[in-house]
Amino acid sequence: QPPSTWSDRFESPLHPAIARFNASIGFDIELIEYDLTGSMAHAKMLGHQGIISASEAEQLVTGLEQIRQEYRTGYFQPGIDAEDVHFAVERRLTEIVGDVGKKLHTARSRNDQVGTDTRLYLRSQIQDISQQLQQWQQVLLDIASHHVETLIPGYTHLQRAQPVSLAHHLMAYFQMAQRDKQRLQEVYARTNISPLGCGALAGTTFRIDRHYSAELLGFQDVYANSLDGVSDRDFAIEFLCSASLILMHLSRLSEEVILWASEEFGFVKLKDSCATGSSIMPQKKNPDVPELVRGKTGRVFGHLQGMLVMMKGLPLAYNKDLQEDKEALFDAVKTVKACLEAMTILLQEGLEFNQPRLAAAVASDFSNATDVADYLAAKGVPFREAYNLVGKAVKTSIAANKLLKDLTIQEWQEIHPAISDDIYQAIAPQQVVSARNSFGGTGFEQVRLALENARSQI
Ligand code: ARG
Repeated sequence: QPPSTWSDRFESPLHPAIARFNASIGFDIELIEYDLTGSMAHAKMLGHQGIISASEAEQLVTGLEQIRQEYRTGYFQPGIDAEDVHFAVERRLTEIVGDVGKKLHTARSRNDQVGTDTRLYLRSQIQDISQQLQQWQQVLLDIASHHVETLIPGYTHLQRAQPVSLAHHLMAYFQMAQRDKQRLQEVYARTNISPLGCGALAGTTFRIDRHYSAELLGFQDVYANSLDGVSDRDFAIEFLCSASLILMHLSRLSEEVILWASEEFGFVKLKDSCATGSSIMPQKKNPDVPELVRGKTGRVFGHLQGMLVMMKGLPLAYNKDLQEDKEALFDAVKTVKACLEAMTILLQEGLEFNQPRLAAAVASDFSNATDVADYLAAKGVPFREAYNLVGKAVKTSIAANKLLKDLTIQEWQEIHPAISDDIYQAIAPQQVVSARNSFGGTGFEQVRLALENARSQI
């Protein structure tokens, strides 16, 4: 038993606390499947290039395959003495295949190895998350399809502004998810570059074929500069940025759902399957799901910030600081997946829109005031003039405890003689929404068009 993992230069083992401090096996075990895949490609490349014999390459691949089975069945459970997943695999391989196992690390360093593993891991996670975004969009689309003509107050500054179609509101989130998917595809392209063969930092003396191993692993290209290859974590930061945006979007909807579920808004009811109670207040029904999504969002923003700060002072090339990328990445991936799943379920089956309450809300405010101004402007009154006239009408209505729809035709004509009987129809909520028929607007025709486009997009 050698005194340490390291070369014979070392005479005594690590202090146990330092060993624990240094080890990453507690979390980088998450990479094991990718580490095995990466090592298989490396072994095949070594064989292909005649750096090791074909039979040696085959023994290595078979041994690695066995480790995969041992891991999946729970037989292989490396402890902290292995330091990290890479050493754990190499050590187990040598137990299984004998001395030939010691040839696996020819022309490779853990630096290019861990970079390869992390990219393989992230590639697969990006695909999963894109899939989840797709499902999320499908649910938004389904619910929106049922609510083209359901109206909901639209707000600016959280003050009633103009009513909108509920479908239009939900489809805004569809568009955000569409950008999220596109962004992930772009991150995928920059993640899908192989650092394998960059060695510790400078390349290698062996006649390796980096393109060969890259192709075996499905990478689109190889890093052009070995120093950059082992020290680049841009792809991880870009992922964290994309993950942050996904959660920022979910968090905004969460905030809305929390408001909507309050007594004050009352726009949605939470179904029992997605709500929680209080340990003391028997009447309570709490929106824990959107609250947790909103809360967890901060965590992922933190990982993005943490990774940027971790990177900013690193000289080239590999530094152990880089080991800190993993927990951030793993936690961000888990958090995004969990939040997408929970929000998808919440929207699909956890919310019931309170339609009478929504209809009453849009009929009981001044959110049709712009429509009176538009009405006058369409009759030739300059808009700014019309705007001021309606402002005055709103003021007198508020003083008289009335809404615009309650004004008599005489009162309207005092505001402006061009106003006639059709004003009542023009300011009815359904008409107000339906009339906003400009491209991308909330008019029902536009919303139906948007739904159709969305259906063909996913
Ligand atoms: N566990 C290490 C990490 O995650 C692997 C690479 C170690 N390389 C080194 N030169 N110490 O970054």
